[in-house]
Amino acid sequence: MQRAIDWDGEAIVIIDQTALPARLTTVRLQTVEELVDAIRSLAVRGAPALGAAGALGVALAVRTTPDDHDAVRAAAARVAAARPTAVNLSWGVRRALTRLPDGPDAVLAEALAVMEEDERVNRLASGRAADLVRQLCERRPLRLLTHCNAGALATVGWGTALGVVRHLAETGDLDMVYADETRPLLQGSRLTAWELKQLGVPYRICPDSAAASALATGRVDCVVVGADRIAANGDTANKVGTYPLALAAARHQIPFLVVAPESTVDETLASGDQIVIEERDAKEVTHVAGTPVAPPDAEVYNPAFDVTPADLITAVVTEKRTLRFRRT
Ligand code: MRU
Repeated sequence: MQRAIDWDGEAIVIIDQTALPARLTTVRLQTVEELVDAIRSLAVRGAPALGAAGALGVALAVRTTPDDHDAVRAAAARVAAARPTAVNLSWGVRRALTRLPDGPDAVLAEALAVMEEDERVNRLASGRAADLVRQLCERRPLRLLTHCNAGALATVGWGTALGVVRHLAETGDLDMVYADETRPLLQGSRLTAWELKQLGVPYRICPDSAAASALATGRVDCVVVGADRIAANGDTANKVGTYPLALAAARHQIPFLVVAPESTVDETLASGDQIVIEERDAKEVTHVAGTPVAPPDAEVYNPAFDVTPADLITAVVTEKRTLRFRRT
């Protein structure tokens, strides 16, 4: 399968996620400015994919100005600042920058290593999380609910929360997946549903406002989501709407798992209240597919992410660790 983000030897190639599910098209990004635009418009998105974008962005910059390290660092800073919440973006930038003294080939090699590692660690993390789901939930086959898109499109390969779905489907333990629609940009209905269809996994799209009812009425065995930044105490930033889902899951004693690579853990932040939450354009809320659905000039609150306190999370699972929090 075409990777969500890749390197073709000269440029970054991404699947244009703004065109899905209508069209599966790729875009070549040949400059840092094109990359920054693609990150801001969510043509490339999802925390682990942003890690690869950050590292490849530095590789692109160093090819443009190989002898001007100040210019490379300035370009790297623009890439890192393109979106503030997913820590993977600045992590990927920093990782590639460590090889700047060794020249363009070394920087590119580091970026390619970031990409190769991504699929491997996502497989590992999601495999560990799938085992935990099997332990925590008795019912077979299982019904999962997920929010936003934490699949292959959000990573370099395999996915995190959807990686769990794939592991469970492989062993015949999966019945179906509820894919939260994920207003306002519909990553659930546009991207997760598209991926599940490709995988042949039965799914139902669930309006965000119906998710708590799906949990309350016994339709879901486990909630599994990805993450954009996990603070040292386990508080987790993920797509807005994750926090109310965790509240509902705790109310109904349904396990709530966060699955992410270690690169999403930000040990420099003691707790989630220190995580910067991106606020996005009002038009994402006031317009649907270009059509106004609110009065002109309506004021809007449009945070792209929210923070789920660790005590609402059953476990945060990475490729290395399982951190247990909520016990009921
Ligand atoms: O705004 P997005 O689409 O980049 O938000 C993505 C998410 O919130 C994902 O759940 C998260 O990055 C994890 S992806 C494995």
